[in-house]
Amino acid sequence: MSQLPKHVAIIMDGNGRWARRHKLAIALGHRKGVEALRDVIRLSSDAGIVALSIFAFSTENWRRSKEEVDALMNLILEYFRKEIDELHERDVIIRILGDKAALPQSQREAVADAERRTQNNNGLHLNIALNYGGQDEIIRAAKSLAAKAVAGEIDPEGITAQTFENELYTAGQPQVDLLIRTSGEMRISNFMLYQCAYAEMLFPEVLWPDYSVDLFKEDLKRFGQRDRRFGGRNA
Ligand code: FPP
Repeated sequence: MSQLPKHVAIIMDGNGRWARRHKLAIALGHRKGVEALRDVIRLSSDAGIVALSIFAFSTENWRRSKEEVDALMNLILEYFRKEIDELHERDVIIRILGDKAALPQSQREAVADAERRTQNNNGLHLNIALNYGGQDEIIRAAKSLAAKAVAGEIDPEGITAQTFENELYTAGQPQVDLLIRTSGEMRISNFMLYQCAYAEMLFPEVLWPDYSVDLFKEDLKRFGQRDRRFGGRNA
């Protein structure tokens, strides 16, 4: 495939609406969402995409009902317990984006185990955003650099895009080339604000549980047809 994005980020929106439309509990919408995710990960890994970042739980999602937060946390735990073997076999490297410290203990342990187990793999970087906020990530990076400057380890004048990027959760990975948000909403919602500086954006109308491999292939093709100039001019 020509012009494959190196890094794809996905806001998997519409699980709730899908559940309501099918007169099902919201938890079942999220569960169906995991099935769609499984297919997208398989294709990304087969196609040779370098990194796939998915928004599983934001710093704002704690505001949802206890029932929904519990359902999402259970699903996350189940996911890490059940899918890790296949991901490891596929050589996937799992990284969590976000503040893991605030996750319940079992989830914290499961994600730490997945990161540890897959850290020396060589395939797709699968970034799972859990308790993640883009502004929070930038503030953490700024704080870390400020602390290093105060300790005399770095000269503030010497801070570059590269040194800043090394402080982000995605250190060492390419910037996002393509951001996909399903369900027709056209917002970035605090997802990978720094990394999406030059991302092409696609907003398919379909609700996330109905997103399929064919739709993903179509979106990858649409990305390949975009004229990317990064502020410059193409001939
Ligand atoms: C947005 O849909 C989706 C989420 C807040 C959660 C996404 C999570 C998953 C697909 C499953 C968990 C992920 C892993 C890795 C196990 P919404 O509920 O906001 O949809 P709505 O706008 O239609 O209500």
